[in-house]
Order: sequence, then C-alpha cells, then structure tokens
Amino acid sequence: MVETARPSGMSRPRKLYVKSYGCQMNVYDSRRMADTLAPEGFAETERIEDADLVILNTCHIREKAADKVYSELGRIRQMKADTAVQGREIVVAVAGCVAQAEGAEILRRAPAVDLVVGPQSYHRLPELLDRAKRDGKAIDTDFPAEDKFNFLKNPTREAVRARGVSAFVTVQEGCDKFCTFCVVPYTRGAEVSRPVVKILAEAEHLAQAGVREITLIGQNVNAFHGKGPDGTPWTLARLLHRVAEIPGILRLRYTTSHPCDVDDSLIAVHRDLPQLMPQLHLPVQSGSNRVLAAMNRRHTRDDYLRVIDKLRTAQPAIEFTSDFIVGFPGESDDDFRQTIKLVVDVRFAGAYSFKYSPRPGTPAAEMTDQISEDIMSARLQELQALIDRQLKAFNEASVGKTFDVLFEKAGRYPGQLVGRSPYLQPVHVMATSDLIGKVVRAHITETTAFSLHGALSDTDNAAPRSSSLLATAEA
Ligand code: SAH
Ligand code: SF4
Ligand code: F3S
Repeated sequence: MVETARPSGMSRPRKLYVKSYGCQMNVYDSRRMADTLAPEGFAETERIEDADLVILNTCHIREKAADKVYSELGRIRQMKADTAVQGREIVVAVAGCVAQAEGAEILRRAPAVDLVVGPQSYHRLPELLDRAKRDGKAIDTDFPAEDKFNFLKNPTREAVRARGVSAFVTVQEGCDKFCTFCVVPYTRGAEVSRPVVKILAEAEHLAQAGVREITLIGQNVNAFHGKGPDGTPWTLARLLHRVAEIPGILRLRYTTSHPCDVDDSLIAVHRDLPQLMPQLHLPVQSGSNRVLAAMNRRHTRDDYLRVIDKLRTAQPAIEFTSDFIVGFPGESDDDFRQTIKLVVDVRFAGAYSFKYSPRPGTPAAEMTDQISEDIMSARLQELQALIDRQLKAFNEASVGKTFDVLFEKAGRYPGQLVGRSPYLQPVHVMATSDLIGKVVRAHITETTAFSLHGALSDTDNAAPRSSSLLATAEA
C-alpha cells in the first residue's frame, strides 16, 4: 500500500525529492513535476531521507546512464524498508527516458518502485499517485493526445526565485532524425513544437519573477516550428527575437542544435541579437564522412565546417562546444584520425565525448562490426586529452579579457559572487549581493581548471577587493 498527499488542515506538507539524470530537458521536466505536485501538498526537499515521494527522472542515452538508476533503486529499496519499520511509507516513482523505454520491466526488476511515468504523461502525476495508492502500482507510458504543457502547473514566484536567475524553457520536444545510435526518438517520441504564445507566457512569468537568462531547450531545438500568434509556423530565429523583447530578459541561449537545421535565419540572429550569447553547443559526433553516413547524421564533415564558418563570420566572438562518439560500429583508425583532425581544425571551447553504447532497438546495435572496449578506451582517452587542452587554452585566453558577467549567487567566500561569462564559464568576483541578477563587466585575472576569477571593471560597483581572500579562493 502506498499513500499520496492531499492538502488537509491536519497533515504536514509531504516532502518531494526529485533527482534528474541526463539532459537539460530532464532538469526542466523535474521542475515542472515539482510545480505540478506543489498544489497537491508536496514541498521539495534536497534530502532523500526526508522524502515521502521520491522521483528519479532517468536517462536512457547510454547503458551506464540507465544502470545508474538501478543502483540508486537498490539503495532506495533499503531506505524504504527502514522507514517502513518506523511506520512511514515512501512512494517511489521512476520518470524519464528509462521509464519510457522499459515501462513495466522496471516494476519487475525493482520491486521498490510504485509508479512508472513516461515523459509525455507528467501532467497525470497526481492521478497516477492516486492510482498507485489504490492499486499498489501504477504505470503510464502513453503518448497521450492531450498536450501535457496545457496541464502542468507554473512555478510560484518563490520557486522561480529559489532556482536562480537563469531558467530553461522547453520549446520543442522529441526527435524525427533517427540517428542510428540514439534512443531519443523512441523515448521522447516525434518532434513537437510548442505554440509561441505558450512559450512567451512562460518566459514572461519567469522574467516577472526575476529570471534574467532564458535557455530555450529542445532535443532538436533549431528544428522549432511552433505555431505563431498569426497562425503561421515560426522559426527559432523569430522566436529568439520575440523572447528578447520581454522586459527583464538580458540573455538568451538555445540548446541542443542539429547542424542540419542551422539555417541562414538562425545564423543572422547570432549577428543581430545582442542578447543571444556567442556560444553554441553543436554536436557533430564524428569527423569521418563514412561514420557520419552510418550514423544517419544527414550531413558531411564539410557541411559541419561550413556551418561553423558561417556562424564565425556572422558573430566573430562565437565559441563552440560539441559532442563526440568514439567507437561507433565500423569506426576505423582512419575514421578516428578524421575526428581528431576536425577537433584540431575547429578548436572547440570544450566538448563531451562518449564511448559508443549499443542501445536496444536502435539500428546501430544490430551492426556487425562493433568496436572492442580496448580500442574505444584508447580513442576516448586521446580525444578527451585533446579536448581538455582546448578547454584549458580557451580558459587561459580569457585572462586579461573583460567579460559581461551575469551574477547568479553568493560565492564560497564572504563578499564573493559567482556569475557566468557569455561562454558559461563560472566567474568568481568580489562584489556586493545587489549585483545578483545583473550583468556587470568584469576583468578576468586568473583561471583555474573550470572557472575564472576576476574583478569588477566598473569601479562604482566594485566591492572592496582583498587579495588575501582571492588567494584563499584559489586554494
Ligand atoms: N539531440 C542531440 C543529442 C542528444 S543525446 C544531437 O542531435 O546531437 C546527447 C549526446 O549523447 C549525443 O550528442 C551523443 O554524443 C551521445 N549519445 C547518444 N547516443 C549515444 C550512444 N548510443 N552511445 C554513446 N553516446 C551517445
Ligand atoms: Fe538523437 Fe540524432 Fe535526434 Fe540528436 S538528432 S536526439 S542524436 S536521433
Ligand atoms: Fe537522456 Fe532522455 Fe535526455 S535519454 S539525454 S534524458 S532525452
């Protein structure tokens, strides 16, 4: 038997613990689930031990990602048994892409789980909790006809404030590209764009509650073609221009893009819209035409390089990050050398790289010429070392420059704030807390492995600067 919460005069607020794995879409979805459960009497907690309801929002992209969920469920099973002894029942829900891909299999494999809910059914969570209470278990992995976004609740102003000055807004979900290695088209379904008015209403709500930076997200965000207020489909370019008009929005980003859908209108936004940050995550996966074709990426190495060139011409300050897969079935040494060469040619400001992981139901998993673990490890190591050098070089080249920094929160040391550069690098600066939510120029003085340190350039805003404190911050 499981219990769900309903607000009542007597009952204490139930605690909800949500853990997100995988991509930004899951982070966003987790928040929308929390917002939808808030009126049901659930308050979020960061401590799983305090939770009455645990939601694991899972990722199925690689085998390791999916495995993580089962080890976490093992720990939760123990916790659930312990609290049951104390007379407290914990409800455990599995959401996200593993839920969609494995469905009822999860209930069989992990008896601690009470509820399985796929990404398109999050609006049904309150009803599913009731069903789990009634029937012991509940599962919903439909792709319902109704649009979940019409039912998910918006965050309260307090929730928005607690989450900080930068927020995600989903504008597009799902994918029709069917890269041969990828589960996303199966777990997230067909590509669907949200209507422009809905996106604007959400962005305006966030801006009014203090959000200053919005990242428009989608599995294939630049394939956006949502219906505009005039009834015609809008491009992402047009949407970006419109979101930039919202009072309070200082910065815009969008992710993740597919190289094939970078059209001229989007390139022009990078030239014309100062609010759009000069940073783009543009996954390429491989530098070999043969591998790109086998992956069904629908573009060549030169197509990719051309897109990069056009964007650099439109916005000379732009920097790129990317994703790579090594050891895709049939990848030869020569194919891999072409990937290395592409990385050298483009000079990325960072990238994620992964060993190919065969995913059940995808065409590449059936390919015969799978690459051995040893070769994959060696290639991954070489690629990551190169990418790390490029990241380091990029951070080091930031020293001596002046960046606009959007301050997000207090730093680890008294009097210190942490913000983000246009390139998403964390920047630590001595500054007063009234600068949180503001974009202020800072001169970059030092770099550590993953972040920058600097001082406010505008002396009117500058907090007293203590070199000893900065020295501690470096330690
Ligand atoms: N929509 C994005 C990618 C989303 S998945 C795009 O089109 O590029 C995020 C990254 O995970 C991918 O870019 C890819 O590098 C990696 N990935 C996806 N499937 C994988 C698999 N089966 N094995 C290893 N890495 C994978
Ligand atoms: Fe997966 Fe390819 Fe779609 Fe990206 S474009 S989500 S890699 S199928
Ligand atoms: Fe993972 Fe699903 Fe995102 S598989 S990467 S959580 S779309």
